[in-house]
Amino acid sequence: MVSRVIPVEPFDLVIFGGTGDLARRKILPGLYRRFQAGQMPPESRIIGAARGELTDADFRGMVAAAIAEFLPAAQQDAAVIEDFLTRLHYIPIDAKGDSGWPQLKALIRADVVQAFYFSVAPALFGDLAGRLTSWGIAGPEARIVVEKPFGRDLATAQALNATLAQHFSEGQIYRIDHYLGKETVQNLMAVRFANILFEPLWKSEYVDHVQITVAETVSVEGRGAYYDTSGAMRDMVQNHLMQLLCLIAMEPPYHFDPAAVRDEKLKVIRALDPVRPEDIVRGQYLASNGQGGYLEHSENPQSRTESYIALKCHISNWRWKGTPFYLRTGKRLRARASEIAITFKEPPHSIFDDAEGWRENVLVIRLQPDEGMNLKVMIKEPGPGGMRLVQVPLDMSFAEALGDAHGDVPDAYERLIMDVIRGNQTLFMRGDEVEAAWAWADPIIEGWEARGDRPQPYDAGSSGPEDALMLMHRDGRRWREIR
Ligand code: NDP
Ligand code: BG6
Repeated sequence: MVSRVIPVEPFDLVIFGGTGDLARRKILPGLYRRFQAGQMPPESRIIGAARGELTDADFRGMVAAAIAEFLPAAQQDAAVIEDFLTRLHYIPIDAKGDSGWPQLKALIRADVVQAFYFSVAPALFGDLAGRLTSWGIAGPEARIVVEKPFGRDLATAQALNATLAQHFSEGQIYRIDHYLGKETVQNLMAVRFANILFEPLWKSEYVDHVQITVAETVSVEGRGAYYDTSGAMRDMVQNHLMQLLCLIAMEPPYHFDPAAVRDEKLKVIRALDPVRPEDIVRGQYLASNGQGGYLEHSENPQSRTESYIALKCHISNWRWKGTPFYLRTGKRLRARASEIAITFKEPPHSIFDDAEGWRENVLVIRLQPDEGMNLKVMIKEPGPGGMRLVQVPLDMSFAEALGDAHGDVPDAYERLIMDVIRGNQTLFMRGDEVEAAWAWADPIIEGWEARGDRPQPYDAGSSGPEDALMLMHRDGRRWREIR
C-alpha cells in the first residue's frame, strides 16, 4: 500500500521558540520529514525566532544537528537535508520587547500562507499575539499555533482565550493537543464511524465499561519544575485523556469537519458528572534501582503533586448513562502502553452449559506502541469434550496489516503542522472545549487540595498504587495489565 502525499500551499512558518526543546525535538525534524515526503513546497520558508543572537547559518547548523539527533538514520538523507536547510532563516526577536519585529515584518510574505507557532512559555503567548498584530505582521488569514499548557485552570484558560481573541479570530487559533495528531487516535474515529459493526453496540445497553490507559516509563527528571506545578491531572488528563474519552464517547458528527467534530466533543465534556473523591486515586513514584523518586526529581521534598492518577467518571447522557469510564495515567510505570479497552456486557441468556468458560467481549485499541486492534471473541474450544468455550483474540497490528505505508506515517506534530497550513482545525481544540475541560477538572483538583490529600507512593516499574486496583475491584472489575 502506498501512502498519498498531497503538497500543501507555499507558506512562511515562524517558530517563536525556534531554538527550544520542542522545536529541536519535534517541530523542525517533523518539517524536514514533510519536506522529504514532498509535502512542503520548496518555496516555503521556516523562520526560527528567539532571543539568542544566531545567524541563519547558526540556525541551520542547529537544525541539522537536531535532525541527526532526533530522527533515525534511515530517515536522514544528506542531499535532502541540505536542500531543506536552505529554506530556513532566523531572526533574533524578543517577545517582550521591540527588537527583531521590524526585520520579521520585512521578511514575511503576504502572498503565502502565514503561520506563527508559539513554542515558548505560555506567559509569552499574549505578548506574541499582540506584537504580531500591532506591528502589522499577521495578515487577516494568518494562523497562530498555541502549545500546551493552555491555562492551569478555568480562569487562566478564559483569560488566555480572551487575550488571544483581542488579536485573532477563533478560526485563526490552533490549540495543539498532539494526541489528536497521532495516527491511531484518528483511527478511533475511522473505526467508529467508517464501520457499521460497532455503532449499534456503542452504548450503555451493551458496554459494561471503558478503560483508557496512558502508561509511561519516563520520569519527570529534567522537567520537575514545570511538572510539579502541573501533575498528571493537568499534564495528561485534562487534555490528552479527555480527548481520547471524547472520541470514544461522542455522537457521530454529521461530517468530519472542524465545527461538527468539535461540537460533538464539547457535548461529551459538558455531560461529564463531577468525580467523587472516592473515585480518584493519586500516586507518586518512589526511588528504585538506583533511580531517583518523584521527590528528588521535583526539587520539592514536600511535594504532593501526583505523577499517577486513576479515576472513574460517568457521562450523563442517553448513550452512556450507567457505563463507567475508568481513566489512568502515570510516569515510571512498568511499560509504555497506551490503549482504550471497551468491555461489552454478557449476552442476555446463555444457551451453553459452560458458563465458566465464558468471558466478556473486549475491543482493545492500542495507541502506542505496536498500534493495532484486538477484539476478544468466544469460540468453541477445538476437539472433543462437548461445547466448551474459549476466548480468542482477533488481533490486528496496523504495522503488519498496512506494511510500508504504515511504517512511514507522519509523527503527530508533522500531521498537525500540515493541517495548520491547510487551514483545517478539526484536530485542534476549540476555546470552549478547553474551557469545558477545565470546568470539569477544576473541582477535582480543588477537592484534593482542600482535603489536603497526599498521593500514595508506588514503586517505580510497577503498575501504580494499590488503591488504583481497588477502584476497579470494588466494582467487580479489574484493570487490564500494563505490559
Ligand atoms: P524551552 O525552554 O526549551 O524553549 C523556549 C524557547 O523560547 C527558546 O527558544 C527560547 O530561546 C525562547 N524564548 C524564551 N523567552 C523568549 C522571549 N522573551 N522572546 C522570544 N523567545 C523566547 O521550552 P520548550 O521548547 O520545551 O517548550 C516550548 C512550549 O512548548 C511551552 O509552552 C511548553 O509548555 C510546550 N511544550 C513542550 C513540550 C516539550 O516536549 N518540550 C511538550 C509539550 C508542550 P531564547 O532563550 O534564546 O529566547
Ligand atoms: C506531554 C506531556 O504533553 O505528553 C508529557 O507533557 C508526556 O508529560 C507526553 O510525557 C506524552 O506524549 P507521548 O506522545 O509520548 O505519549
